[in-house]
Order: sequence, then C-alpha cells, then structure tokens
Amino acid sequence: MYTQPVNTNDAKPVTLATLAKMKAEGVKIASLTAYDASFAAVLDGAGVDLILVGDSLGNVIQGHPTTVPVTIDDIVYHTKNVARGLKRAFLMADMPFLTYPTPGAALDNAGRLMQEGGAKMVKLEGSGTQADIVRYLTDNGVPVCAHLGLRPQFVHKLGGYPLQGKDPAAAKAMLKDAQDLEQTGADMILLEKVPTALAAKITAKVKVPVIGIGAGPRVDGQILVLYDMLGITPGKPAKFVRNFMTGVDSAAKGVAAYVKAVRDGSYPAPEHSFD
Ligand code: KIV
Repeated sequence: MYTQPVNTNDAKPVTLATLAKMKAEGVKIASLTAYDASFAAVLDGAGVDLILVGDSLGNVIQGHPTTVPVTIDDIVYHTKNVARGLKRAFLMADMPFLTYPTPGAALDNAGRLMQEGGAKMVKLEGSGTQADIVRYLTDNGVPVCAHLGLRPQFVHKLGGYPLQGKDPAAAKAMLKDAQDLEQTGADMILLEKVPTALAAKITAKVKVPVIGIGAGPRVDGQILVLYDMLGITPGKPAKFVRNFMTGVDSAAKGVAAYVKAVRDGSYPAPEHSFD
C-alpha cells in the first residue's frame, strides 16, 4: 500500500505572461528542479513558480559525475512524472548534451519534451552560436530558456565548473549573447555562476525574465537543485547553495522557507554570491 501524491493547489497556472509580469512588477520568481511527481506536488503546493526537470538528474538521481550521460529519453520520462504532480507551476525541461546540434534535431527533441513529457518550455545551454537553433524552436512555438554563464554540459572543455564572465571581455560577450538570444526569440535567460554585477547588468538590459543560480540577488528569480537545498547532496555544497532544511521538520516547510527567502530577497545573501 502506497501513498499517492496529492496536489490540491487550485491557484491559476503560471504562464510565460505571469513570469513576465513578475519581472515587470519586481516580484522575485522562485524556481527549483524536480524529477518526480511527489516532489513536484510538494513544490507546487509551496508556491514554487517555475519547475525545471534538469539534466542535473544525471548527478542527483542517476549518480553520474556529470550531466553528459543524460539522454532525451531520461528527461522525457522524468518530465512526464513531474507533470503529473503539478497544478500551478510552469514546467521547463532540459535539452541534454548533444540533443540540439542542428535546428531540426533540436525541434525533434524539444517536441518530445513538450508532446510526450508535458513541458511548456525547454532549456538549452546556449551562446550566440545557438541563435539559429533558438530562432527555429521559437518560430515553431517552442518557448526557450537560454542557459548562459557556467554550462555544465561543457565540463570536459572547461575542465571543471569555474566562475564565468570574470574578465571584461568575457562579461561583454555574455551580455551580447543574452541580447542576441533574446532577439532571436528566447523567452527566458538562466545565468549560472557569474559575478553579481554582470548578472545585474544582463537583467537590466533584457526584457525577458532572468533566473540566477550563483548569480547573486539582482536578477528576476532564483533556482537551485532541489537535492542541494534540501541538504541531501553529500559533500561540500557549492558556495551559492543554502540548506533550507535547517530548523524545519519537513521538505514542504523547507521549500516554503526557500520560496519566502527568494521573494523577500534574503536568499541569496552575500555569502552565496560572487562579487
Ligand atoms: O540541470 C539543472 O538542474 C540546471 C540547474 C543547475 C539550473 O540546469
């Protein structure tokens, strides 16, 4: 006998327009990753606005050292599960490593995430060179989030997970990438592990919402890997992670504390940011 996840949230579903309005009104967007229906229902009930089925599932679910082995079938499977747990939150799914080498391949794979998985947006680890892919997806009705800054799928090129956009030339290039990708139709930008001042500048220069992870407080919203903020991940967490289970006795309360801290701006604090 098992307990079925129940989600009684009857609030209006979040749409891209809701997220754009939150940016315009200065209401911070609270976002987390999820990989299954039970956690999806907990996050939805706690008021998380945007849920990502991230290829971080390669690390936290599958136990791989990187996201490189994750396949489109893996993400489709977990997206379906998460979609069953949601009523209100907007669902975004990751395009895994090598699933968007050409516009045609990207559209086939994004189509699977939306049609089979139930995603409402896809995320790809982009740069200005992906502009034709983003254009093709958005022209075909696929909302796209462009993931800039640290792109974990590039781990073997980068030799690790270093801070991005540190020097003026790299910062300038990242700002240009964000503007170019917005021009080609990206509906959201995600910035990972970049200095606070650069993230703030990009957020001010683009109209679409900017979600940060390790990008400081001056962006439109925050995202964390669920298992990190629940303190499940073993070892030393990244600088930008806060364990929201401290002082609470349930995952639902930890997630509610995260939503509150994102909304009131108390997370991320200076110790979680790169200045
Ligand atoms: O895969 C993932 O979980 C992500 C987050 C780190 C934003 O891309």
